[in-house]
Amino acid sequence: MGIYLDYNATTPMRPEVLDAMKPYFDSRFGNASSTHSRGREAKRALEEARETIASAFGAREKESVVFVSGGTEADNLAVKGAAWAARERGRHIVTSAVEHPAVISACQALEQQGFEITYLPVDGEGLIDPEMVKGSLRTDTTVISLMHANNETGVIFPISEIGQLARERGIVFHADAVQAFGRLPVDVEAQGVTLLTLSGHKIYGPKGIGVLYVRPGTRIVPQMHGGEQERGVRAGTANVAAAVGMACAARLAIESMQTERLRLGMLRDRLEAGILHRIAGTRRNGDRDRRLPNTSNISFQEVREDSLMVALDLEGVEVSAGAACASGSLEPSHVLHAMGRRPDTDGGGIRFSLGAGTTEAEIQRVLDLLPGVVERIRTATLQGVGVRV
Ligand SMILES: Cc1ncc(COP(=O)(O)O)c(C=O)c1O
Repeated sequence: MGIYLDYNATTPMRPEVLDAMKPYFDSRFGNASSTHSRGREAKRALEEARETIASAFGAREKESVVFVSGGTEADNLAVKGAAWAARERGRHIVTSAVEHPAVISACQALEQQGFEITYLPVDGEGLIDPEMVKGSLRTDTTVISLMHANNETGVIFPISEIGQLARERGIVFHADAVQAFGRLPVDVEAQGVTLLTLSGHKIYGPKGIGVLYVRPGTRIVPQMHGGEQERGVRAGTANVAAAVGMACAARLAIESMQTERLRLGMLRDRLEAGILHRIAGTRRNGDRDRRLPNTSNISFQEVREDSLMVALDLEGVEVSAGAACASGSLEPSHVLHAMGRRPDTDGGGIRFSLGAGTTEAEIQRVLDLLPGVVERIRTATLQGVGVRV
């Protein structure tokens, strides 16, 4: 297999995670809502998973963990659920221009329903100014939704400062920590987070499972109607196997976080420095320091990001042009756009995201072949013969 450098899009499941899940597909197949023995067995596993996940981000009560189908659902439940619950107090929501499409689209849907949204800008490094967040707050602001770390650039937002602002004003603060969890310390108490989104498949767990942390006492209008599962916040038969898998993945992510941060940080820096040094017309997208240790987003002048992605794929290197969700649509990245990057002058942005399987030899191989691949695309573009990959 090739070199996978797209860990922000998804991660392989750890063998321990698969082992932990297996019994819940056959011998322990019970419905956690059933009251007989097999149902109670499933319920116990679900509650243990809830407890493990709650403790992974400093939540005091396991009941604050709501299992959902993934990060997208958690983001929707957070933004729409909190906005609708507080609609008598106000209808103004603050978010940023670089959020994941799950948050931006949920906000756009709310706009159609009479809510007012402020999409805060970021600077050229992808950073947000807490003073600007403060300045955007109004008496009718009920929700702030900002990501902990950006999926395209890895840039980290000042979550604790924003949490403090929200706490002082009694505003619900939703943080999307899908990319941050397992790579940075996440603590809902210390950081003043009211609602927190996590996704299983970004932390070497299964796809199709996610978590919304809901601080006890926070009102949320359910977005899925049906049975009384998840304390009435999210109807539907619990995905016990996936919850068990996600809990195992969360525990392992916390255990390996420190060593992986250092290891991946060194490899990422080597890759990034090598590219910027060896290839002219390249530029890093995102603040050098306030960034996830595994992510590097680089623009290549006179190179379309989709051409480079495909060319690298043919060489056995898997990277992403923008975000995975957006890359099928050939839309320019809204994140890079918000940072002032323009494809015609800056070139396309490629995201290299490293993870558990990344080795020094892989990074060296990418550094060896990338200059030639970029050169070929540039020459083809100059000659107007289209892109030969
Ligand atoms: C920051 C962020 N939020 C939300 C999501 C959506 O998560 P899921 O794929 O579990 O729906 C992603 C996935 O790319 C993400 O990176």
